[in-house]
Amino acid sequence: MTETMLIQLNGENVCLAVEPARATAPVWRHFGPPLGLFAPVWPLDAVRPPPPTVLDGDPPFTVLPTHGFGWFHHPALSGSRPGAQGDTDWAHDFRLDGMSREGDALLMKLSDPVAALAVTLSYSIDPGSDVVSAWAEVENRGETPYRLDWLAAACVPLPAQADRVLGFTGRWTLEFQEARETLGVATWRRDNRRGRTSHDSFPGVIVGTALDDDEGAVFGAHLAWSGNHTILIEPLTDGRRQLQLGEWLAPGEVVLARGERYRTPCAYLSVSGQGLNGLSAQFHRFVRTRVMNWPQGRMRPRPVILNTWEAMYCEHELGSLKALAVAAARVGVERFVLDDGWFHRRGNDRAGLGDWWPDVRKYPKGLTPLVDHVRGLGMEFGLWVEPEMVNPDSELYRAHPEWALKLAGRALVTGRNQLVLDLSEPAVSDYLYDSMAALLSGHSIAYLKWDMNRDLAAAGHAGRAAYRCQTLAFYRLLERLRTAFPDVEIESCASGGGRADYGALAYMHRIWASDCNDALTRIDIQRGFLRFFPPEAMGAHIGAVCAHTTGRRHSLPFRAAVALVGHLGLELDVRTLSDSEADDLRQWIALYKQCRPISHRGVLRQGHLGDALAWTQATLDDGRAAVLTVLRRREDTTRYPSPIPVKGLRRDLSYLVRVLSMPEAPYYTRHSDCLVAMREGGVEMSGATLMDLGVPVPPMPPESAVVVCMKVLDTQS
Ligand code: GLA
Repeated sequence: MTETMLIQLNGENVCLAVEPARATAPVWRHFGPPLGLFAPVWPLDAVRPPPPTVLDGDPPFTVLPTHGFGWFHHPALSGSRPGAQGDTDWAHDFRLDGMSREGDALLMKLSDPVAALAVTLSYSIDPGSDVVSAWAEVENRGETPYRLDWLAAACVPLPAQADRVLGFTGRWTLEFQEARETLGVATWRRDNRRGRTSHDSFPGVIVGTALDDDEGAVFGAHLAWSGNHTILIEPLTDGRRQLQLGEWLAPGEVVLARGERYRTPCAYLSVSGQGLNGLSAQFHRFVRTRVMNWPQGRMRPRPVILNTWEAMYCEHELGSLKALAVAAARVGVERFVLDDGWFHRRGNDRAGLGDWWPDVRKYPKGLTPLVDHVRGLGMEFGLWVEPEMVNPDSELYRAHPEWALKLAGRALVTGRNQLVLDLSEPAVSDYLYDSMAALLSGHSIAYLKWDMNRDLAAAGHAGRAAYRCQTLAFYRLLERLRTAFPDVEIESCASGGGRADYGALAYMHRIWASDCNDALTRIDIQRGFLRFFPPEAMGAHIGAVCAHTTGRRHSLPFRAAVALVGHLGLELDVRTLSDSEADDLRQWIALYKQCRPISHRGVLRQGHLGDALAWTQATLDDGRAAVLTVLRRREDTTRYPSPIPVKGLRRDLSYLVRVLSMPEAPYYTRHSDCLVAMREGGVEMSGATLMDLGVPVPPMPPESAVVVCMKVLDTQS
């Protein structure tokens, strides 16, 4: 047996290595930390002793494992060719036709001449972030149609010792809840069939040994797709596991005619040796440099938003809105967003969707007077829309009932009193494009809050399941609007965080993480969200004292500190604040403006002490400035608060450490001298001291926050 060279793709933190094989597709030899292996190796066949009771030529784990010839695990491709005598070509045996490098990508071309299918697999590593992009494409080379059931966008091995998984679950007002489980003998699998990214099954997963915040190897994967998905992790007979992710396809959703191809959405994967924070830092860098497309190619400082929803709901009245805008401008708001309730006959959520012109009862002279007023106050104007939907009680539906997604012979299914428009119909997309274009060209609108408030059901297009074509048509519509209005920013909202994924984020500029503005609940929502998304993409609003969705009450410092790290906004009626409350809010907004150059460009670290204390540390890449936000959820039994460990500073430099906000000392104790000094002018500490001994914090009552800023003293280089 001769030794063979592995084909490798190497990043700084990640490496893929496959072994070319004659009898199978290329064999996975490594997906993980860098190998530093440049010598030929023994082929897998020669390394593994053949176990008893397996087939002769037991197939190894390849880049495209398929069913039918001895691979008994989940296949990376499945489908069949319907025929008069039943289905054929459900068994597959792909061989390599050729491998090539195109830019950063390794392309593997495979075919199965008997099944008359050809597959291209692409893996590439972004050198700036160490995020691997992967996609797969299948072509039907047969005479008759091929019905595709599954094609994994990525199918990679995970090491046997990585047996802890961090997945996400949730619901409306409780998105991105982390669920940690131990992997066992059964397949770990999440399917989303809701037709949009969903609140309950975020298309991302993290696997590792300990899933520690800062240490140990972790693997992360995300599917950049705003429709259905499947993620699965299955144990293999050699102790490793396979991770597959791709688009979940409804039966018959993809049937390829002769010569037709199906390309999966992109999967993004990465590996870090520095725990969850190391992994997040890589994904954040990738999103910043490769996913998001900012107007003029550059992110502007994220403007403070006031969103009218919880202040007004659908009860719009021009005078009140103008007064709200004045109050907002006074506290430092930079963008005023008019939420739901402004368009034709929209008195509540039972009517109006589809009729994208102002309600004359509320806006007799259109939106211009309000837009001008807002602009006159020095703020940008933003507008809420939900283009993909129609209420049966609307002019649009009365004129075009045939435009809703439906299944012949089946009843329509409503959700929040609305139906979904069939975006694949050119007339529908054109109508929506024209409606949005009329709004955008008729007014000075800087921002759209693009909402999508229901799951897809009874969703057919020309008899087939419409999930995939709907998602693609949604992207096309966004693309068209972005091209025509390149300066307009768009927010992705779907009843809160129901459409959070890199597919949508390629066209949009932030994600409304949740309709829950309760700061306590938000801590966990944001923690999960920030695993894959950078803080500047996270809409985070200061809500009313009494949270509308939970009824819980929180102080302004706690509500503001929780929102501080993200893209800040207000979701409250600022008109009702007393002068001193407005002053306090103004100061928090000013603080956000000071912190955003750090939190929206820097490296984010998240940490926790049990479930009592959580923190985020945003640090500039060069380590010269950092903002630490410490949040206490509930009491614990320690008598002295532990200092908070920080990282990423320069050991050799001195920092001015200032407490920007902390709770008053309770009556039974006093603040330590150090903390008093940190609050009054700040204290000087070396980077080494801060990193080795941590940042001191005061006693914190439940549901309170401390914000600390660390900046290199100016006298130093
Ligand atoms: C959804 C959004 C909210 C708000 C309402 C308006 O629920 O998540 O933020 O815009 O719609 O109807």
